[in-house]
Amino acid sequence: KNIVILISGRGSNFEAILRTARAENWEAEGLRLAAVISNRPDAAGLNRAREAGIPAVGMDHKAYPSREAFEEALAAEIDKFEPALIVLAGFMRVLTEGFVSKYEGRILNIHPALLPLFPGLHTHERAIEAGCRVHGATVHFVSAVLDGGAIIGQAVVPVLPTDDADALAARCLRSEHILYPRCVREVALGRVVAEEGKARMSDET
Ligand code: GRF
Repeated sequence: KNIVILISGRGSNFEAILRTARAENWEAEGLRLAAVISNRPDAAGLNRAREAGIPAVGMDHKAYPSREAFEEALAAEIDKFEPALIVLAGFMRVLTEGFVSKYEGRILNIHPALLPLFPGLHTHERAIEAGCRVHGATVHFVSAVLDGGAIIGQAVVPVLPTDDADALAARCLRSEHILYPRCVREVALGRVVAEEGKARMSDET
């Protein structure tokens, strides 16, 4: 089963998935990291993918006349790899309902907050501002509602009194690197599915 990963920048979650896939020999389970696609051609993660022998595609969204035109080209590129699963890993473009529904149940995202708290941007600042004592990350199926799809897994980290947003973000990111590969594997193997807005264990495997 092919997995296609979409990134926009640093790509540390992609790297964590790559590391785990190798360490756990996902290929033996029939899972393959088939391609990395970025809407920013200079994304650091693309080079990392190339070094790892994974097809890496840069598609500058600014080169397309509209969001829809970009998404159409993106979907065509994704479909070349016939993915069972599409993984958004720091992919910073909002996807339209049309795009999302085409891949419903087969797209995951990671969001740096404990959803349904703090959808959107600046999550670490907002958690500190709200006086939260815990914070974390959420892996969820992507639905038409931004950061609103069925929750697959969450990692919790403490908020320390000395934290600024950067310190909290760094702690959060470390937990993402453990959480995301685990969730990707479970979904790719068909062990977790989305049903009526919630993720549940599948009884088919
Ligand atoms: C992560 O914080 C993730 O939660 C958010 O974007 C960031 C991506 O980081 N969606 P990286 O590109 O994986 O290093």
